[in-house]
Amino acid sequence: MTLDMLQQTNNFLGFGLGLRTQHFQEVITNQPNIDWFEILSENFMVAGGKPRYYLDRIKERYPIVMHGVSLSIGSTDPLDWNYLKQLKTLINHVDPPWFSDHLCWTSFKQINSHDLLPLPYTDEAIKHLSERIRIVQDFIGKPMLLENVSSYLSFKDSEMTEWEFLNTIRRESGCFILFDVNNIYVSSRNHDFDPMDYINGIDVDSVLQIHLAGHHDFGSHIIDTHDHDVCDSVWELYERTLRRFGPVSTMIERDDNIPELNELISELDQARNIYRNVFSNLSSENPTTKPAGLIE
Ligand SMILES: [Fe+2]
Repeated sequence: MTLDMLQQTNNFLGFGLGLRTQHFQEVITNQPNIDWFEILSENFMVAGGKPRYYLDRIKERYPIVMHGVSLSIGSTDPLDWNYLKQLKTLINHVDPPWFSDHLCWTSFKQINSHDLLPLPYTDEAIKHLSERIRIVQDFIGKPMLLENVSSYLSFKDSEMTEWEFLNTIRRESGCFILFDVNNIYVSSRNHDFDPMDYINGIDVDSVLQIHLAGHHDFGSHIIDTHDHDVCDSVWELYERTLRRFGPVSTMIERDDNIPELNELISELDQARNIYRNVFSNLSSENPTTKPAGLIE
């Protein structure tokens, strides 16, 4: 079902930004050179009001994808059907090509941690997650992407690497991957693994969207803060990611210390330049290829 839906979708959207309140009016007035926006679903779930007013005007001009933080797909709590109904209502309104959340858990016994907490990489967790993902996808009726989260601890019970865990869930559930390159870099430094093992370990037909972001480097560890520019090491990994996965819709997330829109557009141009260098025979203005393996 999911693959059929994707075959009707233009998977490569180009280069986007996370839509933030500070930039609403400028986006509407100046229509800047940004190919698409990602919204945080929870910020637009209430019908009416200013957020929905701006969203409705911006979606007339730009493709929008939706990204959530509250699904808690890895929790052992029952799925939150009130949340899922609100999410589906917003998805029907926005009509994004896909929606996403995180491969994590955020709540336990209805207590919300407001954090994206990592999972043990076990067969038991794969079974639990895959069942819940299939239920959510069937209910929503759109392709679902799950994002790899950055982590600061690991579980003694883990039986495999994170990338093996992610691949298996993707195969078992039919979901796709939102590949956060910064999160891989952060986790690789915190857990001392080679980020290229992660990039090379993920199935090439599974990545539909890429996140880039900045972090805070404390030397001994890194915190995923989204309050800095993308660092050189993450740009290098982004290039390697494109070489492995082909053209993938890419966006920059900035959630704190948010600069002027022009500054983010300049940063986005750096992603466009890397894309052009990697696919020198293609134009990012008129992309013609899709992520490998998705579209015949
Ligand atoms: Fe992300």
